[in-house]
Amino acid sequence: MDKKLRKVIIAGNWKMNMTPCEAEEAVKKTAALTEGKDGCEVVLCVPFIDIPAAVNAAKGTNVKIGAQNVHFEEKGAFTGEVSAKMLVESGIEYVIVGHSERRQYFGETDETVNKRTKAALNAGLKVIMCLGEVLEERQAGITSEIVSMQTKLDLAGISDELIKNVIIAYEPVWAIGTGLTATPDQAEEVCCLIRKVVEGLYGKETADGMTIQYGGSMNDKNAADLLGKYNVDGGLIGGASLVPEKFASIVEAAQ
Ligand code: 13P
Repeated sequence: MDKKLRKVIIAGNWKMNMTPCEAEEAVKKTAALTEGKDGCEVVLCVPFIDIPAAVNAAKGTNVKIGAQNVHFEEKGAFTGEVSAKMLVESGIEYVIVGHSERRQYFGETDETVNKRTKAALNAGLKVIMCLGEVLEERQAGITSEIVSMQTKLDLAGISDELIKNVIIAYEPVWAIGTGLTATPDQAEEVCCLIRKVVEGLYGKETADGMTIQYGGSMNDKNAADLLGKYNVDGGLIGGASLVPEKFASIVEAAQ
């Protein structure tokens, strides 16, 4: 399949940064700097508390607002959690699920990633599902086993229809926030493997059409080389997404 036929998505993951006032300004700035750059989808995934300000600031622009997590139950006694329906009603289109920081610090497992993904998809959200190996796994030479297993477990039971709203972000944990980036060849190798696993589960057409992002210290300097790879259809960007000028350069590289 021609890579150009796949949707390229450049998404920022602000993590726990930006107050609502800062969010409003950053969204407006990002929107102004990326205006007319319709060669890719531009998404900013913001903290829950920033959603109203960010959605409002993004109105009428090409910037879409996403969330960074979602609970799998519809409602109830889950203190501190936010449901998919709440996100949808707040103007959210995308949600990150299974980020390595959630797995590492908040007890997220492949089982809960799968449950959250299903709840989000059923509510009509698009899910950016994150997975990737830790350093010890790469050094032990088991990256492909780990990534294949995560892909299968995280997608378990998701229908042929709903899989169309899943984006997979390959984020090698050793490259997140460390300044270490996977080389374009390393990113390509694992993104290609993920596509093969998806093909095994859903067939070639679905796998060929799926957007697979790379994340991990992607910045304005290395984005073009990473995005140039056949199986890399976008980026999930942490640190560099906090600086509108840097994020806009990555969007530019994706054109
Ligand atoms: P950095 O771009 O800061 O390495 O973060 C990547 C990431 O975790 C995006 O979700």
